[in-house]
Amino acid sequence: MNNLLLPKNGITRNNKGLNKAMDMGDSDIIKQIKDSMGEPATEVQNPHFDQMKLKSLSSDAFPHVRMRRLRKTESLRAMVRENSISANDLIVPVFVEENIDERVAIASMPGVFRETEKTLVKRIKDIAASGVKSVMVFGVSHNKDSIGSDSMNPNGLLARMISTAKNAAPELSIIADVCFCEYTDHGHCGPLCQHGDVDNDRTIENIAMQALVACEAGADIIAPSGMMDGQVSAIRHTLDVTGFSDVPIMAYAAKFASCFYGPFRDAAGCALGKNATVRSDRKSYQLDPANGRQAIRDALLDVQEGADILMVKPGLAYLDILQTLRVKTDLPLAVYQVSGEYAMMRFAAQAGALNYQDAMLESLMAFKRAGADMILTYAGEDVANFLNKGQPF
Ligand code: PBG
Repeated sequence: MNNLLLPKNGITRNNKGLNKAMDMGDSDIIKQIKDSMGEPATEVQNPHFDQMKLKSLSSDAFPHVRMRRLRKTESLRAMVRENSISANDLIVPVFVEENIDERVAIASMPGVFRETEKTLVKRIKDIAASGVKSVMVFGVSHNKDSIGSDSMNPNGLLARMISTAKNAAPELSIIADVCFCEYTDHGHCGPLCQHGDVDNDRTIENIAMQALVACEAGADIIAPSGMMDGQVSAIRHTLDVTGFSDVPIMAYAAKFASCFYGPFRDAAGCALGKNATVRSDRKSYQLDPANGRQAIRDALLDVQEGADILMVKPGLAYLDILQTLRVKTDLPLAVYQVSGEYAMMRFAAQAGALNYQDAMLESLMAFKRAGADMILTYAGEDVANFLNKGQPF
C-alpha cells in the first residue's frame, strides 16, 4: 500500500483528524501525530528525522494490520477469546485409603490428601458444591495380592468407595479408574507371566470383571487405564451383556510411560522397583514418549473397540497428541493433568517462582486450545473456586 501519502504529502486515510493534513507540510504532519498522542510537539531540527517518519508511514511494511487493536481492552479481549474454562470441564481425582482413621496429606502433592472412607463423603460434597460435575476415585489398598483380587470383590475397596462417592453426591458422575496397579503386591497393572511382564490377556479378562463390579457399585463412567491391548472391547462386551450397555467408557487411549506419574505412585502406593524380580517400569505396556504416530494409532484402535471418550495422559508434555486426535476423531477428548504436573506448579509456587492460580489456569487453557473437552486435574476444586470468584483470564 503505497497510497498513504498524496503527491502533496496529504494523508489519504479516511480519518477526520488526519484528512486535515491534506495540505500540510511534513513537519506539520509529524506535529499533528505527536499532538494526537498527547506528546508535546518539539521543533524538528534534523531534516532526516522528518524523512524517516514519513518513510515509515508510507512504506509497504507499515502495519495496516495491527493485531493489538483487538487486545486493547478487557471487553475486546473477552469478545475475541477463542476458548474458556468452566467447572463443567473439570474432573477431580480423589484418593481413598482403607483402614485409616484420619485423612493423610500427600507430601509430594501439596493440598492433596488420601481420604478415609468416611472423609470421602465430605470431600465429594465439597467438590460438588464447587460446581465440578465429576470425580475419579483411586483406591489405596491394604489388601494386595498378585492379581489385585480385592478390586474384583463386590465388597472390596473399589466397590465401596464408588458407592460411597455416588451416595454422597448422586448428581456427580463417578468415574472408576479400572486398573490393578493399586491392588497388586508387585505394583504392575495386571497379573504377571513367568518372565515378569504383565500378562495382557489375563489382565483384560480381569479388568472386565473389575469394570462390572464398578458398575454394580454405581460408577457412571468406566476408565480403563492399564494400556492393555483389547481392554476396551473386553469391557464393552462384558458391560453390554450384563445390563450396563448404557455406561460409557473413557479410554486412557494415549497413556505414556511418564516420569510425571511419580507423585501419584507415592500417593496410591503403587511405586515399582521395590521387588527386584519384577520390572521396575511400565514401558512394555505404556507408550514410549518418543512416539506420536504410534500414540494416535493406539488411540484410534480404542475408537474401533467402542470407546466413548478418549483420554491423553500426561497433559502438558503431550499437547501435540491431543491436537492431532482433535483433528482425527469427533469423540469427546479428555486430558489428564497428572500428579507431576500438579506438583511442579505447587512447588514452584511455594518457592515463589510462579503464581499457582495463574500457572494452573494457563495450563488448563492450553488443554482447551489443543482440543480437550474435559480435564482431569487435582486442582479441579481450586479452579472451580477461582472461577466462582470471577477470575478473568
Ligand atoms: C493407574 C494410574 C496411574 C495414574 C493414573 N492411573 C499410575 C500409572 O499409570 O503409573 C497416574 C496419575 C497421575 O500421575 O496423576 N494405572
